[in-house]
Amino acid sequence: MQRSRIAGIGYYVPKNVYSNNDLSRFMDTNDEWIQERTGIKERRFADRLEETTTTMGVEAAKIAIERAGITAQEVDFIIFATLSPDYYFPGCGVLLQREMKMKEIGALDIRNQCSGFVYALSVADQFIKTGMYKNILVVGSEKHSFAMDFETRSRNVSVIFGDGAGAVVLQPTQNENQGILSTHLHSDGADAEILAMYYPGASANKWLKDKPGYPDKELGGLFMTTEQLESGAALPYMDGPAVFKKAVVKFPEVIKEALSANNLTEKDIDMLVPHQANLRISQYVQQLLGLSDDKVFNNIQKYGNTTAASVPIALCEAWEEGKIKEGDLVCLAAFGSGFTWASALIRW
Ligand code: COA
Repeated sequence: MQRSRIAGIGYYVPKNVYSNNDLSRFMDTNDEWIQERTGIKERRFADRLEETTTTMGVEAAKIAIERAGITAQEVDFIIFATLSPDYYFPGCGVLLQREMKMKEIGALDIRNQCSGFVYALSVADQFIKTGMYKNILVVGSEKHSFAMDFETRSRNVSVIFGDGAGAVVLQPTQNENQGILSTHLHSDGADAEILAMYYPGASANKWLKDKPGYPDKELGGLFMTTEQLESGAALPYMDGPAVFKKAVVKFPEVIKEALSANNLTEKDIDMLVPHQANLRISQYVQQLLGLSDDKVFNNIQKYGNTTAASVPIALCEAWEEGKIKEGDLVCLAAFGSGFTWASALIRW
């Protein structure tokens, strides 16, 4: 069966840089705390009015498409991963199709948060392998800044996340020594509520017995009272320490699963590109796998956690810096809300 390969890759980050000290103008936090716990020095925030998750995705896609040596008209399927879509519905895939004046091709949105890009890549890989599509555009993009609360009550969440986008074009290859070797996807919904944004949603209070819910109406009710909005019910919630504990188990597990599925070991990895959740998580995983510094790529220091965009941004930067070369074994791994986690092994 033919494999799929990354034929083009690109990323885009907004020009507005916010350092840790900049954030301390809005909330009770400081550079030392943020760097020590997360490794983050600064992040980018999109222009509030001009930039959206879709428009950032378009900028990354333009570069990936050009590097793949095709035109936007030749893309035959779009997969768009995000947790911060421009609209509640429709998804960003169709907005990107419109913005890039593409043909009337299929567009699929993936909502798998931090592992969204690796899930999207896996879906694209299946379509290429079966021969259904030849040029799939896979995008991960986030405009977190629009939904974050920059008050002290939300400081454990809002210092971590940043905005940006990454994209790849996947094409078939007949070269047996190149391409995606395998992808591995997992989920465990037992702790779905510990890293989540509950509202707006259709659950009312079914899963959230102790949280403020919607007005108790026989029908309808998809609106919130001012009191609920002010109480922070519509803000992202994260139990950071619980996420940390699970992440450091699932990252190495899913990386080892990918290696063993291909009869490879940690020693064969040329570059590990982990989802940029927290520098301490990456360093812990690196240590567990016994990888040297030059075999793990991190850029959370500059961009924070960009969720579905973090893996393609990091992969693209590593490649642009010459740290990934033809023939290298590249491992992508991600973990996040859901929980969902995933890995992909690629012969570059
Ligand atoms: N600035 C200053 N102090 C802060 C702060 C901030 N931005 N955020 C939290 N604190 C305070 C807390 O209020 C708490 O104070 P207290 O001890 O007086 O109650 C203290 O710091 C410790 O909080 P805690 O949440 O236990 O810290 P932590 O060491 O676990 O670090 C995270 C918090 C969020 C950095 C860490 O848990 C983490 O990175 N978890 C993983 C998160 C993640 O990866 N999310 C993305 C998933 S893909």
